[in-house]
Amino acid sequence: MMNAHHPDLPALYRTHLDQLQARCAELLPLHGFDGLAIASGVEKFAFLDDKAYPFQANPHFLHWVPLPQHPGCWLLIRPGRPPLLIYPQAEDYWHAPPAPPSGYWVEALEIQVVRSLEAAAAALQAAAPARLAVIGEADAAVPGGPVAHNPEGVLAALHHARAYKTDYELQLMRAASRRAAVGHLAARAAFEAGGAEFDIHLAYLAASGQSERELPYGNIVGLGAHGAVLHWQFQDRLAPAQPTTLLIDAGAQCAGYASDITRTWLHPHAPQGSARDDFAALLAGMEQLELALVDQVRAGTDYAAIHLDAHQRIATLLLDVGLLQGLSAEAAVTQGATRPFFPHGIGHLLGLQVHDIAGLQIDAAGTRRERPAGHPYLRLTRPLAPGMVVTIEPGLYFIPLLLRELQASPLTAHVNWARVEALKPFGGIRIEDDVVCRAEGAPENLTRDAFRALSG
Ligand code: GLY
Ligand code: MN
Ligand code: MN
Repeated sequence: MMNAHHPDLPALYRTHLDQLQARCAELLPLHGFDGLAIASGVEKFAFLDDKAYPFQANPHFLHWVPLPQHPGCWLLIRPGRPPLLIYPQAEDYWHAPPAPPSGYWVEALEIQVVRSLEAAAAALQAAAPARLAVIGEADAAVPGGPVAHNPEGVLAALHHARAYKTDYELQLMRAASRRAAVGHLAARAAFEAGGAEFDIHLAYLAASGQSERELPYGNIVGLGAHGAVLHWQFQDRLAPAQPTTLLIDAGAQCAGYASDITRTWLHPHAPQGSARDDFAALLAGMEQLELALVDQVRAGTDYAAIHLDAHQRIATLLLDVGLLQGLSAEAAVTQGATRPFFPHGIGHLLGLQVHDIAGLQIDAAGTRRERPAGHPYLRLTRPLAPGMVVTIEPGLYFIPLLLRELQASPLTAHVNWARVEALKPFGGIRIEDDVVCRAEGAPENLTRDAFRALSG
């Protein structure tokens, strides 16, 4: 939890817990419950093996307790009483048992340390009220008789509310951005020094102080044409003979809260010529339009409208640089000429999950707002409200599969194919910032603030 220990953190945490408690005190009786038991999760093993997969905690548990690496815990919420954390600390000499609970959060909870998972279940059974809702994976052991497992109404309300971050959560997300920004600077230096994707990845991990399993998502480190694979999942061990570009999408975690940051860099020794000039112009244009889109993250704005505006601005950029020609920006968008170049959504909610839950859910009851027609990958259709953290991540890529489809369509006449072909070795551009919607005025840009603090 590097960098998270702001002096106000204990007070912020208490207020955060009070807010979650108040939410549950209102919500549980509405749905006929007196208590909520939240499982941290169960460790999972590979088939026929004793090797565990990296543990992924239940985000509902992490919302209350900053323990991302503690399988087998239960948290019991009973309105009017402090949350009870049941904390297994088994004797073990194969692995280090969990350390005794410590940190800014322990004082605010009631904690019962137990010696086994069975004892944890028994402790929960002893303390739980009769009408209990349980939130956890299907295989989280639920003690006692029939209980409501993941009741839909309760989950819908909790998911909807998770989008509005408390001051405590924002503090952790600032720290997650700072941690990633340090990694990004080291990654850029490794790229400019001629590193392979694997070298850049290792430089990122070392500088951000994270092991692979602590990352909020697998690093996307694409050199050259690999930048055109949106979620390029490999890391070549060999550097290309001729470096062109780096697209790196890499985040960090702080107490379970994620940052999600993408930067695109043009190598100082990328070959001179018109393709390089085109790429540089596109990169500068994308930087400008990304900042303009970030500025639209304001209370009351429809996030889907930001996505549609991104298409409009990308159309203008493609026309200005001359990759598209002979039609207006409006016509380019309505006829679908931007979609092969920008084939994903403008962003998503961010928090305990990188693609935080309930992006299409507009109220606590679970009502959905569908995506605009023709935009199947947009992950957020809610109107923006104070406390929401979203990403803004416009992209512009040269993806052979989608370019082939464009070439076979009537729009082909509007494309300068010689120049588009020449850009394929440059892969693509994505610039992604994490942005907080404020009650009034301009948004807080967690990512740009983090980079600025490092350069100051
Ligand atoms: N890193 C995944 C995304 O940007 O959504
Ligand atoms: Mn993202
Ligand atoms: Mn990303």
